[in-house]
Amino acid sequence: MGKSSLTSGFYKLNPKERLKFVKEYADLSDEECTLLQNTGSLPIESADRMIENVVGVIPIPLGMAVNFQINKRDYLIPMAIEEPSVVAAASYAAKMVRDGGGFSTTSTPPVMVGQIQVVSVKDPYAARMRVLQAKEEVLKKANEQDPVLVSAGGGARDLDAKIIITTQGMMLIVELHVDCRDAMGANAVNTMAESVSPMIEKITGGHVCLRIISNLAVKRLVRASCIVPQNSVGGEEVVDGIVNACAFAAADPYRAATHNKGILNGVIAVILATCNDHRAIEAGAHAYAAKSGSYTTLSTWEKNENGDLVGSIELPMAVGLIGGAVRTHPIAKIAVKILGVKTANEFGEVLAAVGLAQNLGALRALAHEGIQRGHMSLHARNIAVAAGATGGLIDLVAAKMVEERKVRMDRAKELIEQHSKLRKD
Ligand code: MEV
Repeated sequence: MGKSSLTSGFYKLNPKERLKFVKEYADLSDEECTLLQNTGSLPIESADRMIENVVGVIPIPLGMAVNFQINKRDYLIPMAIEEPSVVAAASYAAKMVRDGGGFSTTSTPPVMVGQIQVVSVKDPYAARMRVLQAKEEVLKKANEQDPVLVSAGGGARDLDAKIIITTQGMMLIVELHVDCRDAMGANAVNTMAESVSPMIEKITGGHVCLRIISNLAVKRLVRASCIVPQNSVGGEEVVDGIVNACAFAAADPYRAATHNKGILNGVIAVILATCNDHRAIEAGAHAYAAKSGSYTTLSTWEKNENGDLVGSIELPMAVGLIGGAVRTHPIAKIAVKILGVKTANEFGEVLAAVGLAQNLGALRALAHEGIQRGHMSLHARNIAVAAGATGGLIDLVAAKMVEERKVRMDRAKELIEQHSKLRKD
C-alpha cells in the first residue's frame, strides 16, 4: 500500500506546515525542502496569496530577446522558458527582420466574448429575437457591474445570440461583447455574464446554465507582418525552403501543430515572463487555427516580386496589463517595464511580432541546416557539465560531441577521462 494523499484542512496550513506533510509523503530530504522554499524574488507569502496549497516556487530562466524593431520602435523582449535555443532564435530572427525595416503590427479593439448558455427554451428562434431586441437593456445591466472599466473607455459593447443543435437538443447561446481595455477581461466578462442571466431567463423563458468567457477570442486579434531581405535570410534557396515549409504546414495538421508550437514558443515565453494566462492564449491560438474546420497555420510565408521573404501572422491575444499577477508578481512588473508597453493592445502586437520571429527562426533552421545543430550545441554543454566538465573543458567536450553527433553522457565522460589522462601524461 502506498502512502495516502487524502487529508483535510491542507489549505488551512501555512506553506511550512504543508511542506512538512509533503516531506513525509515523498521522503524529501532537508536539502530538497530548503530548495523548494528558497523563493528568491517571489516571497512565499506572496506565492501563498496567488494560488492554493503553496509549498514553494519553481524558478525558470528569464532571458532577453534582442534586436526587435516593431512599428519603427525598438523593444527588448523578456522571455521565461526552460527550452534552449528559443531566445537565441528569436533574437536572430528579429535581426533579419530589422534588415527589412522591422515588424509592422495592428490589432482590433480588445473585445472579449462572454457566453450565456440557455436551455429549455420553448421557442428558441423567437427567444433569440427577443434577446436581440432587448440589447440596450442587457448591455446597460452588464455595464452597471464594472463602472471602472466603463470609465476607462471599455465595457459591454454589443450582444449576439445563436442557436446551436446539441446532443441535448437546441440551445440558445447569448454572447456579450465586452471591450476589456487593458485587462485580460475574464473577471469583468464573467461577472457581466452572470449579472445579466436573470434578465436573459426572463426574456427567453429558458434556464441559464453556463456563464463564462470564450477563449476563442476572435474579436481580439493581433497581426504582424515583415519583409526579410533574401540576402539576410540566407539566399533564394532558404527563402524557397521556408515558403515550402509553410505550405507543408498549411496543408497538413500534423505539421501545422508543430509549426504553431514554434510560434507559441516565443509568445508563451513572454506571457510567462509577464505572468499572463498562457492557457488562455494557447487555447485561443489553437482554436483560431482550426476555425475553418481544419487545423492550419497561424502564420504564412511568401516570396514577393523581389525574391524577398514576406511573413504575416494573425491570432487572438487575450492579454492584460492590469489585474491578476501581472501587477503583483515582482518579476512580472519588471518584465512589463522592460517591454515598455503602455496598453494591452500594444503588448498583444509585440507578442504577434515575437511569434512571427520565433516561427521564422525555427523555419529557417529547419529549411537550412536542420534544427538539431543549434539545439545540440546547448544541449551538449549541459551534458558536459552533468558529466563533470568544468571551465574550458565544457566547450571542448561539447564541441567534440556535436562534431561526432554523439551527444551522450557516456561519451562526455569518456572525453573528460581522455582529457585528464592526456594532462597527466
Ligand atoms: C521546437 O520547440 C519548435 C519547432 O519544432 C518548431 C517548428 O518545427 O516549426 C522547431
